[in-house]
Amino acid sequence: MAIKKIIAANWKENPGTAKEAEALFSAVMRAAASVPSVRVVVCPPSVFIGSVGNLMRTQAGRISANFALGAQDVFWEDEGAFTGGVGPRILRGLGVRYAIIGHSERRRFFGETDEMVERKARAAREGGIVPIVCVGEPHEVRRKGIAAAKRFLAVQLRKGLKGIADPDRRGKGKELIVAYEPVWAIGSGNNDRPADAAVIAAFIKTMVPGAKVLYGGSVNEGNVREYTQSDEIDGALVGGASLKADAFKKIIHTI
Ligand code: PGA
Repeated sequence: MAIKKIIAANWKENPGTAKEAEALFSAVMRAAASVPSVRVVVCPPSVFIGSVGNLMRTQAGRISANFALGAQDVFWEDEGAFTGGVGPRILRGLGVRYAIIGHSERRRFFGETDEMVERKARAAREGGIVPIVCVGEPHEVRRKGIAAAKRFLAVQLRKGLKGIADPDRRGKGKELIVAYEPVWAIGSGNNDRPADAAVIAAFIKTMVPGAKVLYGGSVNEGNVREYTQSDEIDGALVGGASLKADAFKKIIHTI
């Protein structure tokens, strides 16, 4: 069945143990199997990717093709003297197919810049991992209106996707995902108006032709459909609600 929408689960620094991660992952896998038209991408903390990946392999017969493993970050080098680095090659070996890049929390707490985002996105793509590049404006920008937000996003997109957005360059035809996550909407319960998010998603598509666009920021089982019913929005990046198996199951089923 053709995939219609994408739901990516960003677990952030949760849960606290590998056992809990495996339990959550199993519950989500079961939920995803019954909705083959939705691509479900689960992004656990990197240290749990190995164990949840193993779980995924042992259940291979029961997992539908719509389910995929993702990472929350990827370094741009495959191997070498890069303390703490985990690059595309390591991730691919663990069965990872997607990677979130440039989340606003990485930009804020780990000092990531648009230039780093660009290197990561390019390396991921060349290494066979689909980048989910996050962009989003802070509240002081959005307060000035949608046009101001677009100007802010245009800079992030131009710098962060410089090496890959041009379809004539390497990577032509490969999947590319942009997640629009207004910073003020993340984890705040203050989700963006779906109509505004759709306008911005359309804008992102004019800037990055061929990209799919997800909305992220306080998405839950009660509001997800308002986003995914828009033609401009290809799915959602879900944080908090992806940690509750029941809520996440409802999200997958509602759309
Ligand atoms: P949230 O997080 O759903 O908890 O707002 C979204 C994200 O940060 O990706």
